Amino acid sequence: MQSHDGPAYPVGLRLAGRRVVVLGGGQVAQRRLPALVSAGADIVLVSPSVTPSVEAMAAAGEVRWERRPYRDGDLDGAWYALIATTDAAANAAASAEAESRRVWCVRSDDAEAATAWTPATGRTDGVTVAVLTGRDPRRSAAVRDAVIAGLRDGTLVAPQHRTRTAGVALVGGGPGDPDLITVRGRRLLAEADVVIADRLGPRDLLDELPPHVEVIDAAKIPYGRAMAQEAINAALIEHARAGKAVVRLKGGDPYVFGRGMEEAEALTEAGIAVTVVPGISSSISVPGAAGIPVTHRGVAHEFTVVSGHVAPDDPRSLVDWSALARLRGTLVLLMAVERIGAIAETLIAGGRGADTLVAVVQEGTTAAQRRVDATLATVAATVLAEGIRPPAVIVVGDVVGVGRAVAGRG
Ligand SMILES: C[S@@+](CC[C@H](N)C(=O)[O-])C[C@H]1O[C@@H](n2cnc3c(N)ncnc32)[C@H](O)[C@@H]1O
Repeated sequence: MQSHDGPAYPVGLRLAGRRVVVLGGGQVAQRRLPALVSAGADIVLVSPSVTPSVEAMAAAGEVRWERRPYRDGDLDGAWYALIATTDAAANAAASAEAESRRVWCVRSDDAEAATAWTPATGRTDGVTVAVLTGRDPRRSAAVRDAVIAGLRDGTLVAPQHRTRTAGVALVGGGPGDPDLITVRGRRLLAEADVVIADRLGPRDLLDELPPHVEVIDAAKIPYGRAMAQEAINAALIEHARAGKAVVRLKGGDPYVFGRGMEEAEALTEAGIAVTVVPGISSSISVPGAAGIPVTHRGVAHEFTVVSGHVAPDDPRSLVDWSALARLRGTLVLLMAVERIGAIAETLIAGGRGADTLVAVVQEGTTAAQRRVDATLATVAATVLAEGIRPPAVIVVGDVVGVGRAVAGRG
């Protein structure tokens, strides 16, 4: 055996199509295999038994599993080996074979005897981060996490080195809690020159933006004789044409009652590249934050998300309220606070029980979140008496009665 003084020499192995031998099928193999699979390695796993996840990888053809103990010769043709059996003698023998065949090997049981060490790794946006700290894996993982988090939220990259995304990013900001935006959304926000934001969504994130970023309130763009939406589209196009990295920050998901596709179409028509970043929609997350699952085994096997911005008897309504009244499952109503009386009456008239449970959740996931409970018969009066104001999500159905013991936010 060689001695292994001195720091490790970092290198990125290109394993695609190359044989990698994994000895042992326990937790260590289970943890390391996914990265080897995504590197495209030709993986042979030798072990009499494996964990259920490793077995699933073998069944999916990602790994060739030889169900037996290690024997001399197993490392023939290997470029790289992971030695992680529970048999110390087998590990030592395999390690000796690796040394004699000049195969780099990592050992789960004896880092000193290994010829390679696995760094703590993470990937984000095309960057692989690998951290080695000698024999302190917790510290490696902590440094890795800090670097990845900084790259993801944009705080680690100096502005002049930002990889700006050309055109406009339509970013779903989630329901309001600033922690509920996606990692990609947050990164794009950190890279933006101009942010055009709605009233709903994670407004707190706007305060964190550096001073040079122009933040525009979509509701305040003057639109004169045009429609407000046309003015927003025009502003997006104008800033993108000026070479700015533009983020259109929307509440929830851009494509759930968010007019996201209208903006994407206008931008595409103007020849501007559009990136769409999905967001966590209030239709699911706001009930969840208030302790209401939109489905629950044995209670509701369907949920329907409906806009209440047009009254049920309005000829412009595209909603089939009589069909909705006949559903057994959960109804999630958005933009329905003002018209909840007419909606509840229509549902009852269509056959939904007057005693059906209803919950109204105002400003879900924010510090101001509030939930009031009622029935279809009482919801209009309750909303009035409690002074409920938009934004609120209204949940109708038996799911309102489950999970009361489980704390949501607020
Ligand atoms: C124009 S829609 C946009 C929905 C959004 N795209 C989404 O996926 O959540 C606005 C409605 O969403 C609901 N909403 C959005 N955020 C909310 C929140 N934090 N709390 C309660 N309701 C919310 C309200 O019903 C509001 O009237």
